[in-house]
Amino acid sequence: MTIDIITGHDLPDTLIDMMNRQRIHEYQVNTKNFRQNEQDSTFFFVRADEEVKAFGMLKPVVLIYQGQPTSILGIGNIIARDKGTGQGRQLMTAIREYLTTKGRIGLGFCKHQVAGFYQACGYQVVDGLSGRFRYSLAYLSDERDILTHSYHTLCHDPIGGFIESLQASDDCIYSNQPFW
Ligand SMILES: CC(C)(COP(=O)(O)OP(=O)(O)OC[C@H]1O[C@@H](n2cnc3c(N)ncnc32)[C@H](O)[C@@H]1OP(=O)(O)O)[C@@H](O)C(=O)NCCC(=O)NCCS
Repeated sequence: MTIDIITGHDLPDTLIDMMNRQRIHEYQVNTKNFRQNEQDSTFFFVRADEEVKAFGMLKPVVLIYQGQPTSILGIGNIIARDKGTGQGRQLMTAIREYLTTKGRIGLGFCKHQVAGFYQACGYQVVDGLSGRFRYSLAYLSDERDILTHSYHTLCHDPIGGFIESLQASDDCIYSNQPFW
């Protein structure tokens, strides 16, 4: 098993096509445009037997909370192609180690059904936060300006305290990017 880490602007068409196909397989629709919108994102590919088994990305995002900006890496596009064989864990371990090494906060959103997966992989998962996120520039495109409370928020914070600071008030958390 190997992990390849590739920046968005260096992604070959073959990997973009593979992710697009896999997203349609999983969700019946692909809402991501990797070539156009993810040039600065960092992609992780778990490979075995010369095939990509799992992939995910970290997207540079600035969150503004109580007037203070925090640069985070948005965790998104997480897919393991063969379910239940440990490839998802390999992927999330590689992403967690990357975040720890770089001293960066990784934060994403997930449905209730997969919250246990992220917890099993060592991520902090909290309920009741997602509905406070806002994307103020949503009116410029077809993006959502608000997430519902039905999502869980997942986080790896190597220093600690970021999620707790968000939980300390009911204020909105503004993002400079569409929800990832
Ligand atoms: C979610 C997903 C990435 C998990 O990958 P996977 O390779 O099947 O997971 P793994 O086999 O590595 O499992 C790792 C651990 O998580 C647990 N786990 C896996 N899926 C789980 C789930 N849905 N709920 C709770 N726990 C789960 C496993 O039991 C395992 O725990 P253990 O080692 O303590 O027994 C994969 O199912 C997937 O691609 N789903 C479709 C896309 C998706 O929903 N992505 C997440 C978007 S937020």
